[in-house]
Amino acid sequence: MADARRQGRDAEPLPGTVLRELGRERGVFIGTAVRAAAQRDNKAYRQLVAAQFASVTPENEMKWGAVEAKRGELRLEDADRIVGAAQDAGQAVRGHALVFHSQLPGWVEGLGRAELRTATRAHIRRMMGRYRGRVAIWDVVNEPITDGGELRRSPFLDKLGPGYIAQAFRDARRADPKAKLYINEIGGEGINPKSDRLYALVRDLKARGVPIDGVGFQMHVNLAGLQPTYVENLRRFAALGVEVAITEADVGVRLPPTPAKLRKQAPIFAAIVRGCLAVQACKHLTFWGFTDGHSWISTTQPGWGAATLLDEQLRPKPAFRAVQRALRR
Ligand code: XIL
Repeated sequence: MADARRQGRDAEPLPGTVLRELGRERGVFIGTAVRAAAQRDNKAYRQLVAAQFASVTPENEMKWGAVEAKRGELRLEDADRIVGAAQDAGQAVRGHALVFHSQLPGWVEGLGRAELRTATRAHIRRMMGRYRGRVAIWDVVNEPITDGGELRRSPFLDKLGPGYIAQAFRDARRADPKAKLYINEIGGEGINPKSDRLYALVRDLKARGVPIDGVGFQMHVNLAGLQPTYVENLRRFAALGVEVAITEADVGVRLPPTPAKLRKQAPIFAAIVRGCLAVQACKHLTFWGFTDGHSWISTTQPGWGAATLLDEQLRPKPAFRAVQRALRR
């Protein structure tokens, strides 16, 4: 009951200029991951998404496992809800994620080579076709590299071979010629074996004329801070002639989140922002959720949480003001 009452309440206004406006003045779209259920059930959450952000990314609602858990039975209400709300709020949508080893339906894992090839193309066409003109940017391939710098084992690599990546981008370009097509990776924010392999991959795709427009760096970090080579890394990718973006920023904290830890978290968020602002080709910065009440770090990483800008009651943490300040100067 108490919770139901709270969920019908208006959001407390956040201090200062909204993030989307601060970002606009610096030429950067400030975005957040959103959850359809929270947007539906929680008025304050819904209001803050609409007020603060220039773009949204459905956190899970467009993943293959979410839209087609049973072969041929499509479930797109949640994705539709997010895209509709974004249109109402004048926001861009980043589609996430078409070819991804994780959160796949079981039936896809069981397909043979030819069937997997056909089903993957159909999935790309279906998703991009449905949201043509409404989803501006797609993560076409997500997390294709291992930390060691190899192509990651997945049904796609195992059955279709390394060419699955180029094929996905070609299929995607045909499905929506106007959408920006991204490859998105976790843990490749600094210069390391993973980002070296990603760099070689993107360079090769560009050299072969494969239609790729951008590289997303997820930026799931913690109080250990950023890789010192973060900006240098963004720049080397930009020099390949692609856009770059920060796509899933959060800064995890070991529980409990003491005031001292939250003070330490703030400058790390600020440094993420400043890094993107320092690179001409970085035009999008998305946080992976904006409240600790709806953050994957809290729900999927035991012992960790407090990874976002607002606490569970949607009150600003030091990180929120630090992001505002970083955007302002
Ligand atoms: C995560 C979601 O945030 C969780 O809710 C879900 O349980 C698992 O997936 N990299 C990605 C995202 O590209 O899709 C992942 O999202 C986080 C890591």
